[in-house]
Formats: sequence, structure tokens, C-alpha cells
Amino acid sequence: MKDLFSVKDKVALVTGGGQGIGLMIAQGLVEAGAKTYISSRKTDVIEKEAAALSKSGTCIAVRADLSTEEGCLALAEEIGKREDRLHILVNNAGNNWGAPFEQYPDAAFDRCFALNVKGVFHLTRALVPLLNKAAGDDDPARVINIGSIDGIQAPFLETYAYSATKAAVLHMTRVLARKLAPQRITVNAIAPGPFESKMMHETLETFGDQIKSTIPLGRIGRPEDMAGATIYLASRAGAYLTGLTIRVDGGATTSQG
Ligand SMILES: NC(=O)c1ccc[n+]([C@@H]2O[C@H](COP(=O)([O-])OP(=O)(O)OC[C@H]3O[C@@H](n4cnc5c(N)ncnc54)[C@H](OP(=O)(O)O)[C@@H]3O)[C@@H](O)[C@H]2O)c1
Repeated sequence: MKDLFSVKDKVALVTGGGQGIGLMIAQGLVEAGAKTYISSRKTDVIEKEAAALSKSGTCIAVRADLSTEEGCLALAEEIGKREDRLHILVNNAGNNWGAPFEQYPDAAFDRCFALNVKGVFHLTRALVPLLNKAAGDDDPARVINIGSIDGIQAPFLETYAYSATKAAVLHMTRVLARKLAPQRITVNAIAPGPFESKMMHETLETFGDQIKSTIPLGRIGRPEDMAGATIYLASRAGAYLTGLTIRVDGGATTSQG
């Protein structure tokens, strides 16, 4: 029981780990004792955050653009050069595109699907060999995909491509869970409600009170909420869950079944 929620000495990769929700997750993992890699396109951002997080554990920055298959393969290769196994992959990097229905551009679909869906697939597949090496019957390797409540219910804003990608990633979570279970790799998703981040800053500035009023628990998410759900899924406590989506949303989707 004592170590049930431990991720100590596990090796983790958090994509998009230099800011927002990815940073909340990375901080939780580092402070809980996991050796944590963070990636994104902006080297200065991830290096600065990795240095700050390394004051309470081990955090390493690796640059990656995950909007192409080559970028995903390059990140997997780089992790493979540094580690002989990977216990936890958090597919968090994501992008959004909002525009009115009448003007919603074709390019939004390509951009959002390339990173939010194809990126998750390509990176996970490329890392299966390293995840495999960490996987055991009692403590499987973990893939955790960051979806969104916008993939469960119709979104608050006009984010047609984004919300479709987030529904796609929740379904891909189930598909990959079935595929990878024989290899003792679990695949689950977290669907966050609203959390403060660069992506959400303007929305929360403009509609914060309105959004809060739709959340039964009456507040937006905090870093600990995101870290807690991730650590649960990544520790032995979450070993028997796969193909699931945990909604970390203050009850925002309670009426959605
Ligand atoms: N905040 C919320 O309320 C909320 C709610 C539901 C779901 N989510 C989900 O949570 C995840 C994180 O979002 P966030 O709110 O924290 O947004 P954010 O602050 O904009 O962070 C997005 C992260 O993804 C990285 N990224 C973007 N494009 C990339 C690319 N081509 N290759 C590699 N990395 C890339 C960014 O770093 P670089 O720009 O340096 O590459 C950044 O680290 C997303 O999947 C989002 O859909 C957020």
C-alpha cells in the first residue's frame, strides 16, 4: 500500500511539457520522483523550465516538432539514445484553431489533426519498443493521452477542427489500449475541463466567469488536479485501467453520461 501511488525512479516523457497543462503534469511527475523529459518546439522555454524543475528532481529538455511523422521519430530516437526504457508517455502537445463557422479554414483541420491525432499515433508507435522494455504484468508501461471535454460535449467556442481531434484522440485511446494490452502497455486519456494556459488565456480572460458558472465545483482546474490524475494513471494504483478517459473537469460534463 505504501508505494501504491509511487512513480519514483520511473522514466517519463511529457510532450508540450514546457508550459500550461504539460508543465503542470511534468512538475507533478518530477516532484514525485520520476525522471522526466519535456519536449516542445521552443528550446529556450523547455530548457528554462527543465532547469527550474530540476531543483526538485530530474527534468531534461528535448526539442521536438511533433506535427510530422519525422519529428515524432526523431524524438523517439533521441529518447532511445538516452534511456533503455520508458515507463510513462504523456501525449500532451496540442494546438487549437478557433474561427466562425462561415470562415472556418480548411487549413485548421490539417494543422489540428497533424499534431493532436497523427502526432499522438506516430509518437506512441515509435516509442512502443522503449515502453515494452518497461512493461510488466504487475506494473505495465503507460501511455496517457490528453484529450479534452470538447471531445465529449459540444465546445463552448467555435473550434470545429480542434473538438473533432479531441474526440478522435479519445477513441484512438480505446483502439490503442486494445492493441497494446498484450504487450502490457496501458493507454488511457485525461479529458481536462478549463485550465489556465497560453491556449486558454484569452478565453478565460473574456469568458472566465461564464465558464466557471457551468462547472459544478465552481472553479477552473489547478495544477494539482492535472498532476494527481496523471500520477494515479502512471503509478501501480492505475495498473488495471486501460482504454478509459478520466474527466478532470470539476463535473462540467456530468450531464453527458
Ligand atoms: N488548457 C485547457 O483548458 C485545456 C483543456 C482541455 C484540453 N487541453 C489540452 O491540453 C494540452 C495542452 O494544452 P495547453 O492548454 O497547456 O496549451 P498550451 O499552453 O498552448 O501548450 C501547448 C503545448 O504544445 C506544444 N506544441 C504545440 N505545437 C507543437 C508541435 N508542432 N510540436 C511539438 N509541440 C508542440 C507547445 O510548445 P511549443 O509551442 O514550444 O512547441 C506547448 O508546450 C493540449 O492537448 C490541449 O488540447 C487544454
